[in-house]
Amino acid sequence: MTTITPLIAGNWKMNGLKQSLSEISELAQLLTTGEAPRALVCICPPATLLHAVAEQGASSGILAGGQDCHTANAGAHTGDISVSMLADAGAQYVIVGHSERRADHGESDDMVRAKAEAAIGAGLKPIVCVGESEAQRDAGQAVSVVAAQLAASLPDAAGQHSVVVAYEPIWAIGTGRTPNSADIAEIHDAIRAQLVERFGETGATIQILYGGSLKPQNAREILAIENVNGGLVGGASLLAKDFYTIISAV
Ligand code: PGA
Repeated sequence: MTTITPLIAGNWKMNGLKQSLSEISELAQLLTTGEAPRALVCICPPATLLHAVAEQGASSGILAGGQDCHTANAGAHTGDISVSMLADAGAQYVIVGHSERRADHGESDDMVRAKAEAAIGAGLKPIVCVGESEAQRDAGQAVSVVAAQLAASLPDAAGQHSVVVAYEPIWAIGTGRTPNSADIAEIHDAIRAQLVERFGETGATIQILYGGSLKPQNAREILAIENVNGGLVGGASLLAKDFYTIISAV
């Protein structure tokens, strides 16, 4: 069986000012004084804090990631951020296709795939997000919706380069609700099968994260599910203590 090093990634979303860097110091301290983490640890802060997080986290192994990127490397795209800028600021990862970007900015699977390609081109690992709405789940379409999104959002280059997949049911994000373990397992197993079918052995090594109300209280149960290779954590990543508890649950 392939062993996959889990990844626990924190998505700060549009939260965090300079003073929030104290959470990075606290997390760094917890990570270096406690038991060695059994997972890679990454924080995706807002772009304004990326460089500081990358610098401050480096000595304790905290990796940094962006929350989005443009498909182009530079140019006339006011307000956007390119993959080379993220890499230059110290990022190793970038989240692409988060449901909030898909909803708020109309990002299509094609655009998400182009962003993932750009990320790979810059040496970043894209964290490609997929997930069904509540209506789609109620209609029994969760597996098929996720499969279609994944097929269209993951670039072929994922067969040769490091990518991460995050399954985030939209209705679980920020709501305190999560699917039950069997439902999570069903989707993660289906994603794994799809990755292996498309990428062969490489597909067996791709981290599949669960995201959506992952908390200190449910982390142990969810992270123990087969084919759950870590988590993408929103709200509970804002406080070092909570995030560390989730990391320790691996
Ligand atoms: P949540 O967010 O943990 O606050 O539900 C997860 C995410 O959107 O990545």
